[in-house]
Order: sequence, then structure tokens, then C-alpha cells
Amino acid sequence: MSKKVSVWTDIRFWQRSAAWVTGFAAMLLIWLTFDSMGQIAMGTDNDLQNGVTKRVPSPSVINYKITYEMSDKRGHEVPVIGGKETFFGRDDYSEEEARALLNLGKLGVQAKNCMNCHTLLGNGAYYAPDLTKAWLDPMWDGYMARLGKDTKEEAMAEFLQFPSENPSHGRMMPNLGITAEEAKGIVAFLKHMSSIDTNGFPRNFSKMQGAIHGK
Ligand code: HEC
Repeated sequence: MSKKVSVWTDIRFWQRSAAWVTGFAAMLLIWLTFDSMGQIAMGTDNDLQNGVTKRVPSPSVINYKITYEMSDKRGHEVPVIGGKETFFGRDDYSEEEARALLNLGKLGVQAKNCMNCHTLLGNGAYYAPDLTKAWLDPMWDGYMARLGKDTKEEAMAEFLQFPSENPSHGRMMPNLGITAEEAKGIVAFLKHMSSIDTNGFPRNFSKMQGAIHGK
């Protein structure tokens, strides 16, 4: 005759519970991993043409106008991809061409170690402005007039090549020997980055930069 014991004091109950909880958590993590991969997978040119919203759009997003708009539902700003817009005179970069340009920019950013002073997608330093949404900085409107350029991309490329001749802040960016071609790639890289849905980070970008809205 075995003595009746409470289930709570039964060691096998706890062993089985531990195994089930571990198993369930493992399955949940595997599912979440695949879900995240799906969320952050880069979109395609077709997505852009069909108005399919992706967190990370195709590199060919450089063919489109990007604005930063308040989403009341989400409580922060989100990049909105609008109609076609020329980028250095063209709005028909293929996915391959745009990707090549972005790669050139990315290599430039790595070679010149921009992250030593700036932050990109949360990584880097806080000495200089966060570059994640730099393309959307209303400051470039002023720079277009100041540098006598017709487009934002040209003004940005000019600034990148000769930053110390064109300062805007008290802190000055040094000339890093960036060539015109590299500058074009870096601007493409930064334009694409600004189109990434970063859940509103960097926080309060528009307020920090002096109001994109109603400017
Ligand atoms: C030694 C530090 C330093 C490095 C390295 C550096 N920057 Fe800067 N950058 C600055 C400072 C300081 C400013 C603000 C100066 C100004 O606006 O006149 C600035 C401003 C900028 C701006 C304007 C941002 C805005 O919205 O106001 C851009 C774009 C930029 N840098 C891009 C780059 C890129 C791309 C690289 C790498 C190729 C780079 N910087 C490397 C210090 C640096």
C-alpha cells in the first residue's frame, strides 16, 4: 500500500514540467526567430512597384521620394515611400545598380569609420548627429540654396566631400578625402537607410532636427 502524496511534492511532476516548459520555450523562440527574419528580410523592386510595405525596402527605393510621417496608431514617425523621384538625374536604377551603389557607400562608410563620430541604426558614437535618418533632415533644404545645388543628393554629396568648408554645427566634420563617386554611394546608402522602418528610432528625430512638419 503506497502512501498517497500530494502532486506538488512529487519530483517527477517537476521534472516533467521543466521538460515541457523548456520544450515550449524552444518552439516559441524558433517561431519568433523565423518571424523576425521574415519581418527584416529586404523587400524587392516588385514590392516597391506594387506598394507593398517592407521594413527594409529594396535598394531601388533610391528611385522614390521618402518622407517621414507621424503615425497616430504607432505613436511615432514612420518612413513613407511616395512616388518616383530622381536621384542624381535618374529614377530608373535597377535593383542590381542600386545595390552596387549602396555597397560602394557602405564600403566608404566602413573605410572612413563614420561610426567613430556618428550613430547608424543604433551603432556608433554620439559625437556627431545620428545618421540613421540624415537623408530626411530638413537641414538639406538650406544647404541646397547655400551650396547652389538643385537637389538634396547633390547638396549632401558636396557636404560629404568638403564638410569643413560647409559647417552647420559648432562641431565641425573633418574632410575625410571622400571622392565624388564615393559621396554618391554614401548618399545612396543613407537614403536607403532612412527608408528603413526603425520603430521611431532615433527617438524624436524631427523635434531634434527642428520640425520636419510645418517647416
Ligand atoms: C571626426 C568625427 C566625424 C567623422 C569620422 C565623420 N563625421 Fe560626419 N559629422 C561630424 C560632425 C561634428 C558633424 C556636424 C558638423 C556640421 O554639420 O557641420 C557631422 C555631420 C555629418 C552629416 C550631416 C548630418 C546632419 O543631418 O546634420 C552627415 C550626413 C555626415 N556627417 C556624414 C558622415 C559620413 C558619411 C561619415 C563617414 C564617411 C562621417 N560623417 C564621418 C563628425 C564626423
